[in-house]
Amino acid sequence: MIILLFGKPGAGKGTQAPLLAAALGVPTLATGDELRAAIRKGTPLGLEAKSYMDRGDLVPDAVILGIIKAALSEPRNARGVLLDGVVRTVPQAEGLSAVAEELGMKIKAVLVFDIDDEEIVRRLADRVVCDTCQTPYTGREPGTLCDKDGGVLVRRKDDEPEAIRNRLAVYQRQTAPVLDWYRQHGTRVAVIDAVGSVQDVSARALGALAG
Ligand code: AP5
Repeated sequence: MIILLFGKPGAGKGTQAPLLAAALGVPTLATGDELRAAIRKGTPLGLEAKSYMDRGDLVPDAVILGIIKAALSEPRNARGVLLDGVVRTVPQAEGLSAVAEELGMKIKAVLVFDIDDEEIVRRLADRVVCDTCQTPYTGREPGTLCDKDGGVLVRRKDDEPEAIRNRLAVYQRQTAPVLDWYRQHGTRVAVIDAVGSVQDVSARALGALAG
């Protein structure tokens, strides 16, 4: 079983992913986290991805499809996986579908976290993330420590105003059309109101999956 978390940058996918994964008993995969880990390690993948990510552009499909294929083939993901921001273009949706079919995995639903641009800009301007476990926080100063693992909280380069504007434009141009692709291919697309407490948003998402 594969569940996709979908939505604009800053919609709350990374906040919801571990909560929903714990509730559903499945692991998560976030391409953004995989790419940032590769950048920290200085791998060829990281070196290729960095300039795209810093400007808020999408990393090429071939790179993402390589990550998807490798991750879905891992035994730990065989029973199901929650994909956080993993599919952002129609070719990626097509590629995931082919890999899933090969492995006998079904795409159960796409959960779209719905939020307006103004709230996104407000959230991202105020976001810091743990430099080790990537947990996001709002209302905390850079340089303070993560509640989970004591890592240092830092601002992301792509949370600068110009990169945020570009990420929102890229979402509309390249990512939003993926939803119609899923609807046309018979996958359930559930739109979740992403404004409210983190717990309320989780409850809405779990409710949509149960319904
Ligand atoms: P990625 O890291 O996935 O970034 P993103 O999709 O832009 O999403 P964000 O991480 O910014 O936001 P989020 O929706 O996870 O929100 P969060 O929970 O953090 O990708 C980065 C880059 O990698 C991309 O731009 C691209 O270059 C590349 N990339 C990744 N995948 C790719 C792919 N498949 N194809 C091509 N390129 C790819 O929340 C945001 C803030 O809001 C936080 O501060 C949080 O604490 C706060 N918050 C969350 N929920 C609430 C709430 N309910 N109320 C109030 N505040 C909240």
